[in-house]
Amino acid sequence: MHIETLAVHAGRRTDPATGAIVPPIHLSTTFERGPDGEYPLGFSYSREDNPNRRYLEACLAALEGGKEALAFPSGMAAASAVIQGLEPGDHIIAPDDVYYGLRKAIGEVFGKWRLETDYVDMTNLDAVRAAVRPITRLIWVETPSNPLLKITDLAEVARIARRANAMTVCDGTFATPVLQRPLDWSIDLVIHSTTKYIGGHSDVVGGALITKFDNYLFERARKSQQFGGAVPAPFDCWLALRGLDTLPYRVRAQSESAGRIAAFLKQHPAVEAVHYPGQAGHPGHAVAARQMSGFGGMLSLQVRGTRERAMQVAAQVRIFTRATSLGGTHSLIEHRASIEGPRTRTPENLLRISVGLENTADLIGDLEQALPCGKKATLSAPYFFFKSVRRVESKSSASSQEARLNLPSPRFPVRIIGYFRRSGS
Ligand SMILES: Cc1ncc(COP(=O)(O)O)c(C=O)c1O
Repeated sequence: MHIETLAVHAGRRTDPATGAIVPPIHLSTTFERGPDGEYPLGFSYSREDNPNRRYLEACLAALEGGKEALAFPSGMAAASAVIQGLEPGDHIIAPDDVYYGLRKAIGEVFGKWRLETDYVDMTNLDAVRAAVRPITRLIWVETPSNPLLKITDLAEVARIARRANAMTVCDGTFATPVLQRPLDWSIDLVIHSTTKYIGGHSDVVGGALITKFDNYLFERARKSQQFGGAVPAPFDCWLALRGLDTLPYRVRAQSESAGRIAAFLKQHPAVEAVHYPGQAGHPGHAVAARQMSGFGGMLSLQVRGTRERAMQVAAQVRIFTRATSLGGTHSLIEHRASIEGPRTRTPENLLRISVGLENTADLIGDLEQALPCGKKATLSAPYFFFKSVRRVESKSSASSQEARLNLPSPRFPVRIIGYFRRSGS
């Protein structure tokens, strides 16, 4: 079956009690035993299992081509459940630009577990091979990576891990199973922050772990979930599953839009570098083209100049929202080094973009007016009208975000269309 069909149907069926085609939300924490003392429908207590969680897990497993999935209350809870399965003294190899939250968790939460971790450039397979030790038990992969969009060769890393008798985990948050299925490339486990594309609407925090086969790390993660208590709420599972319905269509639209935005940025004189694996010049392009069916809705750019220059660009946007996170309907822009803190390795002039579902030309217009040397504003008339109405409606309670969204006064259209700050260089 194709992924669009699985996304809508896998893991659920018409509710036998009511005929509802959308699963009801099961808030009950406890379930009735049969006269024989058994649980005839397989549920006993919601920390151990819950119908909404089960629907979501079944759908995620189907989309990733996995055997089983576990849903967690956040991506970090899923990642932590994997790390908790390691023994003290085990060695992890992780990407040098791994999601900074994982690096913090390994260092600050699991530090006392005496885990040894080497952070290496995963795009350099020789570096990965050189990092392997007899105690290596886990190779963590994140591809495309956050925020530099580096690409790791999944099949090659899986091969290195097999030879080392280590397990592999791929954080597939940026790609989603729509664009990349790591299990098909012999990776053992996939994790997601379902907060991002899977939930898809910036309204639920969640995570997932999917396995290809029975293995000790997955079983320990299950225990850590059931007995450690890191379980997602039924409504959160429902929201994530609702997000899955439209995932393939959203991700492809965002991916296409990101490709066009990356092409626009690439030729812009104020942009020093664009990081997008869909571009032929990207160092990971060939590998991405092989193991992904699209290049995703995430990209980052380095503004020519200093951190302040990058901050100025972020300050000027009107459709993009300055916010962290990714994968939702709203396009977001973020000065990544600020959020990662003083020990970040992210370039200070880097802005990360999560492309939402707005019109691509409007998004390009917004970046164009925000970048130095760009047009002041080329936003479309319907957008302008919509924002003007919003401004009038919210006049009495305008938040700072409302203020940011407002366009220059409608009484002076000359300021909106065709005003150039400077042309050329
Ligand atoms: C690539 C990646 N993995 C994992 C996480 C952690 O997910 P969560 O915030 O749902 O715990 C994030 C969060 O931004 C992420 O970007």
